Amino acid sequence: MNYINKEFLIENAYSSRLAKKYGTPLYCYSYKKLKENINNFKKNFKSFSPLICFAVKANSNLHIIKEIKKLGLGADVVSIGEMMIALKAGINPKKIVYSGVGKTSAEINFAINKNILLINAESQSEIIEIEKIAKLKKKNVDIGIRLNPNTDAKTLSQISTGKKENKFGVDEKTFFKLVKYSTMSKNLNLKCLSVHIGSQIIDLKPYEKMLKVIEKVLKKTNHNFEFIDLGGGMGISYNHDKKNLNLKRYNQIIKKFLKKIKKKKIIFEPGRSIVGNTGYLLSKIIYIKKNKTKDFIILDAAMNDLMRPALYGAKHKTFASIKKGRISKKTYEFVGPICETTDKFITLKKFQKLNEKDIIIICDVGAYGMSLSSNYNTRPKPAELLIKGSKITIIRKRQKLLDII
Ligand code: LLP
Repeated sequence: MNYINKEFLIENAYSSRLAKKYGTPLYCYSYKKLKENINNFKKNFKSFSPLICFAVKANSNLHIIKEIKKLGLGADVVSIGEMMIALKAGINPKKIVYSGVGKTSAEINFAINKNILLINAESQSEIIEIEKIAKLKKKNVDIGIRLNPNTDAKTLSQISTGKKENKFGVDEKTFFKLVKYSTMSKNLNLKCLSVHIGSQIIDLKPYEKMLKVIEKVLKKTNHNFEFIDLGGGMGISYNHDKKNLNLKRYNQIIKKFLKKIKKKKIIFEPGRSIVGNTGYLLSKIIYIKKNKTKDFIILDAAMNDLMRPALYGAKHKTFASIKKGRISKKTYEFVGPICETTDKFITLKKFQKLNEKDIIIICDVGAYGMSLSSNYNTRPKPAELLIKGSKITIIRKRQKLLDII
């Protein structure tokens, strides 16, 4: 933890001064952590130098994507909007992969015009649609097919995607049928087998199982895929107990897998592991409301600014911007002002004694924080800052109330 004179710093910036100058709620990102995460990711997998396509859905701020591009990553996108952001950030189309179960004709058209690396198709209907559009354009389009490996990612059910009952990808039988169809098509060029079994995975076993399924499927088909896209999902340690996915071990498992199959290029689509721990949400205490058993710490940030606790019961490390010695005897429940009981961040015992107007910091909100935010209760979206040492850049202005109204 980065404290100077009892005050929490984000790189060289004093957190309470940021809150005062830029207002709250406020998203702040540390460039140093972003760079560390990317270098660490690359280092762990350097033995087979994968193509790393950042999952833009985790954080779609153009400035963040620009930094990610400068650090050498490509993009995994799921909509025309995300594709436009990736292209605007300067990412080479040949480093863009496109996932999603419901790509519209307009989106497929756009992706083909931009000559992206791969459209990872997820159904027979989608393949037929891509072929139809490619034919009209007299083009040969590079595609992947997403396999549903029927593997339990052992993560929250809401973010598990690789089981047969999930809407994602196609089962083995359909996969073989679609391989046959695509390889016979004049307008499709089948290059990739893709998977993505879920998010916030911290156990390696599901990945091992997934790789076994892929190995079996590759053996059963004699099609020579150029790429294997293993998706993302690498989990981080939200309570800072180091229980994140062990990338080093994952690398060893993949190396073993690569020895068993013909030479292929690996693609990854990490989101959370690249940006998760880079973000902090700064929020001011509006009121402290006393209750018999606990005190409600009513923040100016709410579930519309950070959905994860309300949506998944996620717990984000929470602390005060300025450390004070005294500990509260009461339990604190950190809540937002929204009219929903689930508008609650965390309940903590033995927290330092807080006062109204104190600044609270919610950690690890760089992934699926701002990107999941909304205007619920007609609340404007927060501003975002990128902090590089002592340099502070406003990378998104606070939304103006009149713009929403
Ligand atoms: N690739 C595909 C096809 C995906 O659907 C996802 C995430 C990723 C890659 C990136 O996964 P990551 O490396 O970030 O785990 N809103 C939830 C997470 C939803 C993930 C959706 N798909 C949360 O806040 O935990």
